[in-house]
Amino acid sequence: MQHFAQISDPHLSSLEGVRARELLNKRALGYLSWRRRRRFEHRGEVLAALHRDLDQFELDQLLVTGDLTHVGLPQEFQQALAWLRELGEPTQVAVIPGNHDASVATPWRDTFALWREYMASDASTGIENSSDKLFPSLRVRGDIAFIGLTTACPKPPLMATGTAGAEQLGRLPSLLDTAHARGQFRVVYLHHSPLPGKEKWRKRLTDAAEVQAIIAQHGAELVLNGHGHRSHYDEVATVHGSVPVIAIPSASAMGLHGGNTASYNHYRVERCEKGWRLAIEARDYHSASDEFSAGESRSITLARKTR
Ligand SMILES: [Fe+2]
Repeated sequence: MQHFAQISDPHLSSLEGVRARELLNKRALGYLSWRRRRRFEHRGEVLAALHRDLDQFELDQLLVTGDLTHVGLPQEFQQALAWLRELGEPTQVAVIPGNHDASVATPWRDTFALWREYMASDASTGIENSSDKLFPSLRVRGDIAFIGLTTACPKPPLMATGTAGAEQLGRLPSLLDTAHARGQFRVVYLHHSPLPGKEKWRKRLTDAAEVQAIIAQHGAELVLNGHGHRSHYDEVATVHGSVPVIAIPSASAMGLHGGNTASYNHYRVERCEKGWRLAIEARDYHSASDEFSAGESRSITLARKTR
């Protein structure tokens, strides 16, 4: 049996000391949003409780599905790197960016280069870890292939959309096919929902239909996303059988503005006669006890022809 977990949208950075008038366009709006609301919603004490809760599990991998920052300033990338190092080694923690992290175009060396080791594929995959070829990323742990997509790219003010892009999607089918041929449990993870119509127009993945079509045609065993700060469970059909598509809330949220209170998901995977057994347990934050504890759970069997 293998274990992994997904946390999302921690928005862990502080913009204390930054002045709105120093920030141009989209970042100024993001700063004002942080000043008025987000700094009360996304709390360091919740992330400290999250860390304590994660410590009890022996995870094969921890997935962080984007939006570690608020407006993607270099100093926020540095804060996020320090936080990632507390969570674990780059081989244990896999990161994909979110739209907030790519709020405006910023030199790679000052921002995403700091997270490179946490976003990189396993060295053994031979996948180039250059800035334009980093995704899809591939990490294999036991019987599980973790395939990360980036959907984060700068967009106009007030837009929180994402785009996977043709080049990245051109490389995705062969990763899915190869992992299937090896009898692996394929986890595809990305920041935005890959289900067309699932998000508000200004928060959507612009090429969700293309992403879903590739998953339908090449198969996957689990698809994970964040971004909406709410939990959702869906299943979609693929050539190899149905695949759960799961969205989780923010890992740091107090739930002040109608969103879900902080939560993350713990997953257990094992082979069974019919294919795979997947157990999903939500770990929910409770402010009264300042602790995460077991929430909703479900166990499903994915019928697959495996070796
Ligand atoms: Fe987001």
